[in-house]
Amino acid sequence: MLAHALFSLATLATAVSAAPLAAPLEARASTLAASSSSNVDFNITYSSNRTEGLPTMLILATGGTIAGSSASNLDSTTYQAGVVGVGQLIQAVPELLNVSNVDGMQVSNIASESMPDSVVLKLTKLANKALCAPNATFDGVVITHGTDTLEETAFTMDVTLQCDKPVVVVGAMRPSTGRLSSNSPNNLLQAVTTASHPASRNRGALIVLNDRVCQAYYCEKTQANTVDTFDSPEPGYIGALLSDKLFYYSTAAQPTFKQTFDLSNVTALPDVDILYGYQGTDFGLLNATIADGAKGVVLAGTGAGSIPAAALHDIDAAAAKGFPLVRSSKINVGAAVPGDAGYDSMIAGGLLNPVKSRRLLQILLALNKTNDEIRDAFEGKLDSYLSYKPGSS
Ligand code: DGL
Repeated sequence: MLAHALFSLATLATAVSAAPLAAPLEARASTLAASSSSNVDFNITYSSNRTEGLPTMLILATGGTIAGSSASNLDSTTYQAGVVGVGQLIQAVPELLNVSNVDGMQVSNIASESMPDSVVLKLTKLANKALCAPNATFDGVVITHGTDTLEETAFTMDVTLQCDKPVVVVGAMRPSTGRLSSNSPNNLLQAVTTASHPASRNRGALIVLNDRVCQAYYCEKTQANTVDTFDSPEPGYIGALLSDKLFYYSTAAQPTFKQTFDLSNVTALPDVDILYGYQGTDFGLLNATIADGAKGVVLAGTGAGSIPAAALHDIDAAAAKGFPLVRSSKINVGAAVPGDAGYDSMIAGGLLNPVKSRRLLQILLALNKTNDEIRDAFEGKLDSYLSYKPGSS
């Protein structure tokens, strides 16, 4: 088995060494143009042999370290992300075919910090078409992705998926080639194993890395360098893999605060910026951001979303004109709660960290929700818990 794995990685390394280190710019431009259409088509470039009785997975490859390549065996920081193609990724892990039939589509091949909204929109449309359309033939979707913004795509999948089949988002912290002990092949196998398993249904989008499964709604990157970076600090992991076997700690459940939205008729996500909070800031870039065309702003406040007094004048003035501002916490764990005194003009992000608050605000604006509806989508469910009176139903 070890010899087999080494052979697979060697095959992959050979294939990659012949590939250019980065996709040409023209190729990226055409990918982006294609992805702005409201309807999406499958462009399957890899199809495994079919084994009867096995489920069928669609792997949507987007780039990142899991598709990265390094000339050095020890490099985990300065390698090139988004190099290896989806067919090579799949063929490097033949064990995938023991758990599933697999089709692969290359949606992009980029580092995830450069992923445009149009690609994220395309991913949710592809996943919904593959899994939830009346004639859907796939049993699960796996998205391979750079870890830096993986939680943003995974959250978007979670709140836009229209059926109970699994979407699993996976990445790696060590490039798929040229690195001792890469976690890429095993993470891909575990992601496909998870997406193929019937117990993964009705749990929304999941993030799988390093033997653990967490719900995309809560899961986030917590460490810049180490392999055990994805965590869901308060709710915890919901499942794990022992060798190649998946188990869940509890029966299927959805995040309490989650609502789902249908983006099938949305052609673009409006621009929403995040402004970072720090000691004494007056969020001086707020008016520049609005003048630059942002349709909403998320304030990554300090602590539980606290905002310095010096910033409130401009914030209140913008909100009075109907400009939506969401107050979140740069701590990433914990809540910015509704009803916090002095902050009425802002919408509380609740348990959503700034990047997830941004995605939710973009989705709500894309669906032309009113400011009251936007406030209710962020605050309503948490507020119902906070305003609960003992003895009431
Ligand atoms: N910058 C990266 C990305 O998000 C590579 C890091 C990673 O995937 O872990 O694509």
